[in-house]
Amino acid sequence: MAILTEQEYYKWRNILKEWLDKIQNATSLEVLENLRVETLGKKGILTLEFAKLKDIPNEQKKEFAQNLNEQKTAITSAIDAQKEQLEKVALNSQLQADKIDVTMFNNESSIGAVHPVMRTMDAIISYFQNLNFSIEEGPLVEDDFHNFEALNLPKYHPARDMQDTFYNKDFTLLRTHTSPVQIRTMLSTKPPIRMIAPGTVFRRDFDLTHTPMFNQIEGLVVDSADKISFANLKHVLEEFLHHTFGNVNVRFRPSFFPFTEPSAEVDISCVFCKGSGCRVCSQTGWLEVLGCGIVDENVFKAVGYENVSGYAFGLGVERFAMLIHNISDLRSLFESDLRLLGQFK
Ligand code: PHE
Repeated sequence: MAILTEQEYYKWRNILKEWLDKIQNATSLEVLENLRVETLGKKGILTLEFAKLKDIPNEQKKEFAQNLNEQKTAITSAIDAQKEQLEKVALNSQLQADKIDVTMFNNESSIGAVHPVMRTMDAIISYFQNLNFSIEEGPLVEDDFHNFEALNLPKYHPARDMQDTFYNKDFTLLRTHTSPVQIRTMLSTKPPIRMIAPGTVFRRDFDLTHTPMFNQIEGLVVDSADKISFANLKHVLEEFLHHTFGNVNVRFRPSFFPFTEPSAEVDISCVFCKGSGCRVCSQTGWLEVLGCGIVDENVFKAVGYENVSGYAFGLGVERFAMLIHNISDLRSLFESDLRLLGQFK
C-alpha cells in the first residue's frame, strides 16, 4: 500500500507548486539562495522529509523516497534555471553600466605640439628641399680642422674670438657653427653642390638673445668657376626671406667672415614696427637675420677644389622662430614651459 494517500499526494503537489512559483519569481540571486536553503538546505523542508525515511517501514521506503527525489529534482532544476536567468540579467546590466563610448571626445585631454624651434627648422628645411638642396649632417663634437682651420680660421687668428667655445682635452670641441658640414660635404663629394646643413651648435654665450646651445641652418652652393655669383646668392636669399617674412625690405650690409669674401650680413625691415623703429630693432628699423658671402678661395684650397665658385649662408633658427612667433626672450624657448609651448599647436 502506498504511504501517500490521495490527499497527501495533492498536498505535496501543491507545496511543490508553491515553491516552484516562488523560485520562478525570485528577483535576485540572494532571494533564490534563501529559497534553496529553505527547501534543500540542512533544515530545508525536503531535507527534513528525507530524514523521516529511516522511520518508514521498509516496504514503503521506495515509493516515499521516489516521491521525494522527484520533488528534489524538480526544485533543483527550477533553481538552476532561475539562477542562470538571473545571472544573465546581472551580467547584462553590468555590461550596460560599464559601457565605454570610445568615440566620445574628451575635452580635458591634449596632444603635444611641435616645438616652435623645430617647427621653424622644418619649414626652412622644406623650403630649400623644394629648391633641390640636399640635407647634410655632421658631428656635434668637431675637430679643429673642420670647425676652424679649413674655414680659413688659422690657429691664433683673432677671428676665432667671435666663436669662443668649449674645448675638450683631445683638441676636439663642440662645434661653434654648422659651417664644418660645408667642409665635410666638399671633402666627400664632387661639385656641383647644393646643400643645407641644419643642426645644433654651441658657444660660450648667455643673455637675452644668446644661449650656449642653439640651432643653425647652413647653406652651400658650389659649381664650376664663374657660374656662381653674388647675384645668385642675393636672389635666393631675397626670395627665401620674402617667403618667410612676407612683404619686408631686404638689405645686404658688407661684413666679414673668414670663410667668405666678399661677406655680407642680411637685414630685413623690422617685422614689429615695419621699419619705423622700436625696442626690438633698437630703433634702427632693421633686424639682422643672416650671414652670407662668396666662398673664400682658401676654403676651396683646403678641400682640394679647383676652378669652382660658390656661395654660403648661415642663419640662427631660434632667431627666426622668435621673429615669426613674436617671442621676446630667447631663453623662454628652452624652459619647456607648457603654457608657452601650448600656444604653438
Ligand atoms: N658660420 C657663420 C656663423 O656662425 C655664418 C655664416 C655661414 C656666414 C656661411 C657666412 C657663410 O656666424
